[in-house]
Amino acid sequence: MALFNLKKLLLKKDTSRLIDELVDSLGVDILIRDSVGNSLYGDEVSGPLVPPPPVGVPIVSEGQAVGWVYGDDGKTAVIASALNYLVKTEVEKKALATEALDKYNELTMLYDFVERVNAFNVREIGDFLIKQVLVQIHADNVSVMVYNEKTGSLEVIAASGTCVESETTLKLGMGIAGSVVLTGKAEIINDCLSDKRYISRNNISSLICAPIKTKEKTIGVVSAGTIKPYNYTANDLKFFSTLVSQAAFAIDNARLYEHLKEAFITTINTLADTIEKRDPYTGGHTKRVMNYSALIGEGLGLSTRDMKRLELASILHDIGKIGVSDNVLLKTSRLTEEEFDEIKMHPVYGQEILSHIEELKDVIPGIKSHHERVDGKGYPDGLMGEEIDLIARIIAVADSFDAMTSDRPYRKGLSLEAALEELRKCSGTQFDTKVVEAFLNAYKKNSIN
Ligand SMILES: [Fe+2]
Repeated sequence: MALFNLKKLLLKKDTSRLIDELVDSLGVDILIRDSVGNSLYGDEVSGPLVPPPPVGVPIVSEGQAVGWVYGDDGKTAVIASALNYLVKTEVEKKALATEALDKYNELTMLYDFVERVNAFNVREIGDFLIKQVLVQIHADNVSVMVYNEKTGSLEVIAASGTCVESETTLKLGMGIAGSVVLTGKAEIINDCLSDKRYISRNNISSLICAPIKTKEKTIGVVSAGTIKPYNYTANDLKFFSTLVSQAAFAIDNARLYEHLKEAFITTINTLADTIEKRDPYTGGHTKRVMNYSALIGEGLGLSTRDMKRLELASILHDIGKIGVSDNVLLKTSRLTEEEFDEIKMHPVYGQEILSHIEELKDVIPGIKSHHERVDGKGYPDGLMGEEIDLIARIIAVADSFDAMTSDRPYRKGLSLEAALEELRKCSGTQFDTKVVEAFLNAYKKNSIN
């Protein structure tokens, strides 16, 4: 690992100001040198003080001296300990920023891959397969079951008519379908009622059943049956098995896609957590904003698609903070105008980051506009009223409510009632009236506490 760069830390305005102030207030004369004797503070001459004379105090990072503070007074140690603290914080912050970037790269790669995989879902493929079976094979009931590794059961993912074997889930080995999955061999049963394995109450007389097999394993089963007695032939079985095997690859791909989607959501959550870790005072903020947003969305009767968009946008609303420097983001005292301008860039950075991920394109407006105000006085674009994406108007209320009710190092959070009053006061200027109303209703219903 590279040695910590003490020179870079000392060149930072905040650090050099702090050292100057300490030197002044303590009234000491000090020299700071790096680990090989280059002068960093207090003198122009580099060289002969390394190895350190008895008065040198080391500045240590990860067990190694990265520099030395020299002075003729015991107070030198005070400055050295301030510097040691700054070095330690700097190392911790860097580790977090790297973690966030790593996660971001992981996310992009994951999505690039997902985009290349056929994106039909398992149910759509099941429905398509059933249509084909009904056209090609004599049957009035067809069901497609897929093995769920988590539950260890076969589950119906699509059916036409009643399920061929009345249960919607079967343990492996149960019923004819469960037994076909175990053996991996297609079967014809022309007299179901005399087959002991048959567990249906659906009066199916004859059925044909084929396993859904990938190269490595059996992942499910398709059953087709008739209520009136019918004699399925070996030819029917061959044709049926071919149809099923064609769907097997698509079903397997779709399952992979669904697993990736789950992994993607998990990665997004981890990414959001990583961002939060940079600012310990906002712990749990993302989760609360997500919960408040969901309650507002439900109250406004958003569609399933918009609820999903809202969920992702609320998790990722501050992702652009990755692009804001730590000394501004983590500053606890009042921000200067320039510093505030830098913070105000985070919705734009968020847009830039997410524009690389095709699947998240429709989440961007919710992120880019979450600091807009309905009266047009927000940022970054000064949009007004309904020009602002509804998802962003919802997050604005959820985000502000949480910010108002959370404690910060420099102030105590407002009480719930005071924060609600503030929302009411700003309804129609900062916030969308409908959105505030939905939030207040959710509060009345005790969904928020
Ligand atoms: Fe924000």
